[in-house]
Amino acid sequence: MLFITWQVAILEYNENSYQSEKPAMYVCICNSVTDKAIHKAVAGGVRTFAELQEQTAVSTCCGQCTSCAKQVMADALSAQPVPQAIRWMPQRMVSA
Ligand code: FES
Repeated sequence: MLFITWQVAILEYNENSYQSEKPAMYVCICNSVTDKAIHKAVAGGVRTFAELQEQTAVSTCCGQCTSCAKQVMADALSAQPVPQAIRWMPQRMVSA
């Protein structure tokens, strides 16, 4: 008998899996959202969980995937390149 829990990673074996380093993992079963979809959304500019839900529909049904989705999103955000600091130079005060 096979037991599948929400914490069990279900590997996606689609036609593109062989091309990537590791197969995708389903994070949200209800909406078929994978970790790769979350990483792609973050790479595309998503910065909040609400934005991620809007774009991918992750965690918008039963909600069992919320903690896992947030962890995957945090991992994706930490993998993003750090933006260069905006240099601010004060303008000289010009007296009249
Ligand atoms: S598993 Fe993601 S909303 Fe149900």
